[in-house]
Amino acid sequence: MVADTQPQSPPQFETVDELLAFVEEMDAGELSRWIDSTDRAILRLLMDRVVAIINNKGGVLKTSIATNLAGQLAAAGTRVLLLDLDRQGNCAQDLGYGTDARDDKGLGIVQAVLGSTALLPIRNVRPNLDVVPGGKHLDNLRALLTAQRSQSRHAAADALVIPLAHIARDYEVILLDCPPGEPIVQEVAVGVARWLLVPVRSDASSRAGMSEVAERVETVREVNPDVELLGVLLTGTSQSATRIHERVYARVREDLGPDAYIFKSRIRYAEAAASDSRERGELAHELEKVVSTQPAWYEAMRSGQPVERLAGSASSLAGDYAALAQEFVQTLLEAESEGAADDEGASAGEDDSANDSVNEGAEAIDQDDSGDHRKQDSTSGGGESATVDGRASGEGQGVVA
Ligand SMILES: Nc1ncnc2c1ncn2[C@@H]1O[C@H](COP(=O)(O)OP(=O)(O)O)[C@@H](O)[C@H]1O
Ligand SMILES: [Mg+2]
Repeated sequence: MVADTQPQSPPQFETVDELLAFVEEMDAGELSRWIDSTDRAILRLLMDRVVAIINNKGGVLKTSIATNLAGQLAAAGTRVLLLDLDRQGNCAQDLGYGTDARDDKGLGIVQAVLGSTALLPIRNVRPNLDVVPGGKHLDNLRALLTAQRSQSRHAAADALVIPLAHIARDYEVILLDCPPGEPIVQEVAVGVARWLLVPVRSDASSRAGMSEVAERVETVREVNPDVELLGVLLTGTSQSATRIHERVYARVREDLGPDAYIFKSRIRYAEAAASDSRERGELAHELEKVVSTQPAWYEAMRSGQPVERLAGSASSLAGDYAALAQEFVQTLLEAESEGAADDEGASAGEDDSANDSVNEGAEAIDQDDSGDHRKQDSTSGGGESATVDGRASGEGQGVVA
């Protein structure tokens, strides 16, 4: 008799994987109610694969990396969301959706932040790749957050947490393309990101831009203490300029500490291929295919017809992005397992406010502890394909408890 009337004990989450599995089980209505009743600190744990591509300097290839990395990962079978947070909306050019009526130029982002509602991505911009467009309407986001900041110091850092929490479970990786010189919008990105990928060129201004990112991290630290540098990526360089590379690496370590990870991959200077790519709305690896089928220059000449020639360097550039995608996956998985190891032994089952918040909104739901909730279409995390499969076991992580 007594047993029938006792409330069922809410699920306990000792690891992020358990929390993700719990969220995976809910239908849209349950998810929405749970989000409404759950602390942002818990919702941020759902954002464990959000990577902001950020440098306060323009022209360091943030957007090119965001779109090409997203495209490479998606082509390898990883479910990817790309969020364009730049008023320039250049992701639309790289991916060729600028003429799509669904390109709302950032209006959807502003509405989602204003109403604390779900972001609505353009689905299947490529197979496995959805995109939330940016553009001119993001000026209103800046204005909105500047106004909100007078009431809440962390308005910007918190802005995307709820809109993204609604859809985060649909993706294995979420990439944020960040604007240069928009501190408040950068704060939105760093406030919701788990990882930062910082592209740098060899010039002094991109070094300064990197240090300004560190300031953003300090600003959001209080509400997003887990945000970390995934790595620094050298761009727009000659692959053989070893002395220049070494000099940049030394400066990065000076600025960010000796442990800062520097990607072994580099994105070479290939202006013509990059320009063709943006012009045609095709990523480097897509352009590479077109280039490989175009007639040789002498055949084109012989035909007497003007033939549009595309830069042959598309192939090398595509190779750089493919190498980056593989290293990105490997680095992410390693960083996750290091994080799990660091947290090993952290308290499991202790009563703290975060755990209370999880449990408050939780209905008694059977736990799926298979741990494969992110896998969906992807097959292998290692070897040749850039897919994100498998993660730190998280055993004993104690991330929530
Ligand atoms: N590998 C490359 N080599 C040379 N120029 C490039 C390369 N990739 C992109 N670009 C060009 O550099 C400019 C800035 O690139 P973009 O990715 O928009 O940088 P950001 O987003 O940091 O401002 C664009 O005109 C783009 O076409
Ligand atoms: Mg850009």
